Amino acid sequence: MAISSKYYLRRIMSRFIIKGKRELYGTVKISPAKNAVLPIITASLLAKTPCLLEEVPDLADVRTISSAIEILGARVEREGGGLKISVPQMVSNEAPYEFVRKMRASFLIMGPLLARTGRARISTPGGCAIGSRPIDLHLKGFCLLGAQIKQGQGFIEACADKLVGSRIYLDYPSVGATENIIMAASLAKGMSIIENAAEEPEVVDLANFLNAMGARIKGAGTKVIRVEGVQELYGASYSVIPDRIEAGTFLVAAAMAGGNVLVDNVICEHINPILAKLRESGVRVEEGEGYVRVYGGGEIKPTDIKTMPYPGFPTDMQPQFMAMMTLAAGTSVITETVFENRFMHVNELKRMGARIKVSGRTTIIQGSERLSGAKVKATDLRAGAALVLAGLAAEGITEVGNVSHIDRGYENLVEKLRGLGAEITRKDD
Ligand code: EPZ
Repeated sequence: MAISSKYYLRRIMSRFIIKGKRELYGTVKISPAKNAVLPIITASLLAKTPCLLEEVPDLADVRTISSAIEILGARVEREGGGLKISVPQMVSNEAPYEFVRKMRASFLIMGPLLARTGRARISTPGGCAIGSRPIDLHLKGFCLLGAQIKQGQGFIEACADKLVGSRIYLDYPSVGATENIIMAASLAKGMSIIENAAEEPEVVDLANFLNAMGARIKGAGTKVIRVEGVQELYGASYSVIPDRIEAGTFLVAAAMAGGNVLVDNVICEHINPILAKLRESGVRVEEGEGYVRVYGGGEIKPTDIKTMPYPGFPTDMQPQFMAMMTLAAGTSVITETVFENRFMHVNELKRMGARIKVSGRTTIIQGSERLSGAKVKATDLRAGAALVLAGLAAEGITEVGNVSHIDRGYENLVEKLRGLGAEITRKDD
């Protein structure tokens, strides 16, 4: 599956045109989780026999990670709505800069590549709009598993004849570090214990996929994960969990635009913190078996949030929630504890009439009656999503530029919103 440069060129120049104040009605089906499918795709490098992922969202990030592992020797084929990934043998153990630059999650190749071949050479992932995004905890884990790490000329190289199980304490419950270390430890000799591990549902989904491949992982979803290394892993068929952040995004969309939307294909437990904060904001949400119904249009109460690792309020919902608080009947305080620079959407929201003050990692949002449409730009994935939500609720026309950021994490966003009655179109310059 080669990435066509035309594809990227076209997408980078795309923009959304939104005519606001259209209530949303109907049902929207949530896609499989981007942040679960990316590590699961890299984990397929650990098996010599094919893996079949039943439902895989058609996202730019999925194309990027698929092309990256094809460079290493994987064959990635679309099968219906899913992917068949075969890696009978590796032909390279180096992930080139072009992929890591495009998507930091390419660094999730490191763990499986090191475990499968004993050597991995990956371009050092840069920072991104929302923060410096260090990888020190990933490297700490690989070192403790017995790898030698060399850094230089923009590359990180890890080598190990045989990884050996170890006790690894994560100074911060990093999602990516937990995932990379689990993948490396799966083929290590002996037991590994990861302490202060990330508890996100996407970590659990990765562990479930690896166990289906023959791994022996216990405790995923808690702070202590035990991985008993095995000799070999085999291809498996797997169905990825629904995207809790996409679900939260649509719940907030209906809360802001008004209407009555059934958000289908949801694991309610995964969005408990989002549901709790929606209810605190006065939004009526009803949980069902695998779905949530949201009744929008009522008064939005000012509500404070503080982003935390799971099961706290997710940082990936902070921009969207901030958009909603710009319409609250009072003042809200939002504190971002996970990333150091995740307020890029503030200035764009202010162009739409929002009254927001930033002070360090805290923002104070003085809610107002209305937002007005304006030309704005997406600076990163979730900031872009927040601007779309603001456009749905604003008076007049909103144009969101740089929607290539949004294409990374939302499958068919325009089609799904139009299906609910939104007036939104994509324009390719
Ligand atoms: C994952 O990123 C997600 N991405 C992010 O989603 C999400 O925001 C983040 O987890 C937190 O939930 C994917 O799963 C592909 P972290 P990741 O390592 O793994 C510090 C989206 O919008 N840290 O948990 O990179 C780091 O500085 C994206 O879908 C270290 O200090 O997140 C940050 O402050 C955005 N050293 C904090 O941990 C390390 O070695 C959280 O990072 C690694 C991380």
